[in-house]
Amino acid sequence: MGNISKGAGNLPFQIYFDNAATTPLLPEALECLTETSRDIYGNSSSAHTIGKRSSAILNESKATFAELFGVPPEHVVFTSGGTESNNLAVWGALGGIVNVFHWLKSPRARDEQILTSVVEHAATQKIFEQFDLLGANVSWLGVNSECLIDSNTLSNSLANNQRVRILSLHHVQNEIGAVQPIRQIADQVREHSPEALVHIDAIQSFAKIPVDLEALNVDLVSVSGHKIGGPKGIGALVLGRRFADRKPKLGTILAGSGQQDGLRPGTVPVPLIASFATAAKLGISRLENQRRTLETLRNRLAEKLNGIATVNGPSDLSFNSPFRAPQTLNFSLTPVQASSVVEVLSAKGICISAGSACQSSGSRGSEVLLRMGLGASRAQSALRASFSVKNSVEEVDILAEALNECLRIGH
Ligand SMILES: Cc1ncc(COP(=O)(O)O)c(C=O)c1O
Repeated sequence: MGNISKGAGNLPFQIYFDNAATTPLLPEALECLTETSRDIYGNSSSAHTIGKRSSAILNESKATFAELFGVPPEHVVFTSGGTESNNLAVWGALGGIVNVFHWLKSPRARDEQILTSVVEHAATQKIFEQFDLLGANVSWLGVNSECLIDSNTLSNSLANNQRVRILSLHHVQNEIGAVQPIRQIADQVREHSPEALVHIDAIQSFAKIPVDLEALNVDLVSVSGHKIGGPKGIGALVLGRRFADRKPKLGTILAGSGQQDGLRPGTVPVPLIASFATAAKLGISRLENQRRTLETLRNRLAEKLNGIATVNGPSDLSFNSPFRAPQTLNFSLTPVQASSVVEVLSAKGICISAGSACQSSGSRGSEVLLRMGLGASRAQSALRASFSVKNSVEEVDILAEALNECLRIGH
């Protein structure tokens, strides 16, 4: 674990506990990005030598992800990030941009449903809201007070006999760090609807805990570069075994040229991809060691907050807990408002967040906590600290002391 972080840019001193929002580039990923941006500038679709150099790097990067996920290289589709990967998974599984509309108008759509949960990141939630507006049968699975999907609400959704076309869930919930029981849910859905496709948003789990398509019984996995020390603006959708020979088919959501087997048209950003592959390879090779460090930091904060804050999410904070991601601790510092704590800490050079970075929680507080049934004051005072191995125990103690001070002065 490092000591106190140096300031980014020209900031004098910063302690960064917002790694679930985004991470700084790993030095190796930065070096790869710089070198490939400078040297590997060809279009990977060009037939000449310069283009072929790019396509060789692209193939190498694909092979890296293919090996990490145990799938053939053609099952790795690069996208602009987690948001696009989730969109490609869900719209793609329903046939792609044109066929989705044929499906919606067909009698078949009335006998089928699509499933997600009430605590998804906006990058999934909004897709299902769109389908709701378009008239599809959408089932929203509820969660318990620990943020884990409630199997009763799943049984209720399956009781209506509408076949499931796609189930899309995050693996690790981004605000809370709860690990969903994906295998159990996927098995239950497949028993009811053997043809259902199962997609997971592994954006907060990849390179933090194992993501094994076979063990989880899933077909599609979204990952994103900037959550694992890779660059922003790059992600991937990984297709599992059932997509062999493109059966079932995934439809495209963009109209354009034929790159990436026509599944994701557009000039392929090879330097971003190579840098992402570098970060992914390092992240997976360091996963076990990093997990211990992250859990130590997380539990140190939980201990320090004992008696002054309430930890939200699964109560199991043991090492290698199946319900807890190592890098995230969400807690309510009642009665203070989370948004004012974030500001006070920011003025002291400490970065944490009130819930998700991309969803402002507004005066109601965290929607996720409200959906966990935890009430307004817990939701309004909920904060998320998300760690990296660059954080130190000293930094955690500084954070705990600053939070204590916020409570004393009533922010
Ligand atoms: C669980 C989850 N899904 C999706 C996203 C969106 O990923 P990206 O920023 O790469 O589009 C995020 C990022 O915050 C996330 O945490």
